[in-house]
Amino acid sequence: MQPTTIILFGGTGDLTKRKLLPAFTTLLRQKTLAPSSLLIGIGRRPLTHETYKQSLLMNLPADDQKSLQHFSILYFQDDVGQKNSLEDLSAFLKQHETATSNRLFYLATSYTLFPQIVQALHKHTLDKQKDGWTRIVFEKPFGYDLASSDALDISIHKVFSEENIFRIDHYLAKETVQNLNVLKFTNPVFDNLLHKALVAHITITVDESLGVGNRLGYYAEAGALKDMLQNHLLQMTALLLMERPSSLAVSAFHDAKVQALEHLHIASADQHLLGQYTSYRDECKQAKIPYTKTETFAKIVLTCTLPRWKGVPIILRTGKKLLKKYGQLIVHFKPLSSSPFPEQTLAENQLIIDVYPEQDIKLRLNTRNPTTGLLAPINLLFSPKSHFGPNTSDEYATLLGDVLRGEHLLFTRFDEVQAAWKIVEQIEQMRIKIPFVLYADGTDPEKIT
Ligand code: BG6
Repeated sequence: MQPTTIILFGGTGDLTKRKLLPAFTTLLRQKTLAPSSLLIGIGRRPLTHETYKQSLLMNLPADDQKSLQHFSILYFQDDVGQKNSLEDLSAFLKQHETATSNRLFYLATSYTLFPQIVQALHKHTLDKQKDGWTRIVFEKPFGYDLASSDALDISIHKVFSEENIFRIDHYLAKETVQNLNVLKFTNPVFDNLLHKALVAHITITVDESLGVGNRLGYYAEAGALKDMLQNHLLQMTALLLMERPSSLAVSAFHDAKVQALEHLHIASADQHLLGQYTSYRDECKQAKIPYTKTETFAKIVLTCTLPRWKGVPIILRTGKKLLKKYGQLIVHFKPLSSSPFPEQTLAENQLIIDVYPEQDIKLRLNTRNPTTGLLAPINLLFSPKSHFGPNTSDEYATLLGDVLRGEHLLFTRFDEVQAAWKIVEQIEQMRIKIPFVLYADGTDPEKIT
């Protein structure tokens, strides 16, 4: 198997330690990544190879540390914002890399540095390998708005072709999110169920209990709309609403997602809600970050003008420092026009797709309690954990494995990113008219009266 040189921009960052290193360990174990591969972390601080490797390994479980003991992890000091950036990387690679290595650049930095990094890679002829592929991965957010993401894409395409570009959204690798297509497109029953004739509304929720943490600087610019809604929530929306792709080609799959995104329509300002948890102000003060009215909570209502969904409200909700961390897509079905049991309450039929902490799929139905003879709501449950055993794959390992194989299905195509930015821009334009609440940490902003 050909070795790969992984060059990590943002190599000392949180994502590298928390997500990327464990993912590379999994890939080594699975033998998806050749053991003779090489990982080079790039950062501004002066570190030796050994201190860098230790700083990455120290947070990993003992098993992972053992797997990485003989794996080459090196450090390259560089300030990618500077003019002569990456000047010495070519010589460094010549010294350490096998001539036949593939190259994977991973940009876990601010999007503002993407063009400079890409240009420097090109300038120093690092963007092409004679005997292997060269691929580049971009962390989200891909830009700040439509114009900046357009500009980014143009500058990146001057150097890399689309087949070598991977825009990552880790929600696309979450198990139930991946299962959405299987569920929809292999079970004809869902083709009829998921239709405006039967569906009252849809809710897509990603609540978090933690706050912004040590990412206040980034978050002040992003807020919930750009940090979560523009990517994760709208991607899940596209997957749930998209029609069956016209073929099995990856491009047809992306076409169908784009079609769904382009048919989304924003409801009027009074139907949305933005909010901020009360301790956010103090967090800014402590971190010496200027306080802004950044939203840490967003509820946004959309409709989709595709014939299948016309008129069905789609409610997206996400926020930090809420009651608990959970992610769920719920299709709420319409009630009966008249109940055969008018004296008893009928539960709403729902299709519930858990994203986390569980990865279950449930169908909520009314049944008869054999003891009381009364109506009882139950969930028909599919639990992958009970059925197939615990799911040990992690999202970043899935996605990085796909990058190594050159598979684009679980990555976002640029027109999807554009369509999502267009939606966020429309929300931004009505921002001043959208109600804004301050919510106490750990409470539900929608319950403030
Ligand atoms: C990231 C956001 O993309 O997703 C974070 O930047 C958020 O703010 C995180 O906390 C949530 O991911 P997960 O997988 O923990 O639900």
